[in-house]
Amino acid sequence: MTDFPKIETQRLVLREVTTEDATALLSIHGDPDLMKWFGSDPLPDQQAAEKLVATFVDWQRTGTGTRWGVQLKGHPSLIGTCGLFRWDQRWKRCTTGYELAQNFHGQGLMREALTAMLHWGFREMNLNRVEAQIHPQNTPSLKLADALGFQREGLLREAGYWGGRHHDLLQYALLLRDYVAT
Ligand SMILES: CC(C)(COP(=O)(O)OP(=O)(O)OC[C@H]1O[C@@H](n2cnc3c(N)ncnc32)[C@H](O)[C@@H]1OP(=O)(O)O)[C@@H](O)C(=O)NCCC(=O)NCCS
Repeated sequence: MTDFPKIETQRLVLREVTTEDATALLSIHGDPDLMKWFGSDPLPDQQAAEKLVATFVDWQRTGTGTRWGVQLKGHPSLIGTCGLFRWDQRWKRCTTGYELAQNFHGQGLMREALTAMLHWGFREMNLNRVEAQIHPQNTPSLKLADALGFQREGLLREAGYWGGRHHDLLQYALLLRDYVAT
């Protein structure tokens, strides 16, 4: 992948994350409440946010995935991100992850972003399977995965580690054929 695949929806622009987004990213990924079930510890400082930007840029450079900055049209800064990563081109599968600043929850914005992102992934990345690992107590994320047609496949025992302890995670996946059927 070379040119960044910008995507536009009714209310959002999904675009490349750059170092100029580090401060906005820190306010989201540094929020301990929001990050409770996300799968990693809250970011401690600006330097960590810049490192996260570099990680996202690297996915794109190495062709292992894409992370989009989610920007609300008419809003000056990034309000979240979503991505397709751990891309296995041979097996035509990858993993998704997403997060949205608390102020913007409950408006269907991430659902709008993921709908467009998945459409792009199935078509442009030739995916057959998109996986998500979700903490059993992460109710908003479970609802979102259900709404998008992801199927629950089982429990991955102690698959995650953050906050100083291991966490069980629910394995979800959306297959191309399920996606086409809905
Ligand atoms: C997961 C996360 C992105 C979900 O955000 P969200 O805003 O709840 O998700 P959605 O975009 O699907 O919005 C859902 C709500 O918007 C409402 N909605 C849907 N479409 C809408 C629309 N077009 N207009 C207005 N409201 C709408 C729905 O009724 C739903 O409300 P409900 O939850 O009361 O039923 C958010 O909780 C988050 O960032 N969590 C922290 C990070 C995280 O854990 N990520 C996942 C790791 S696996």
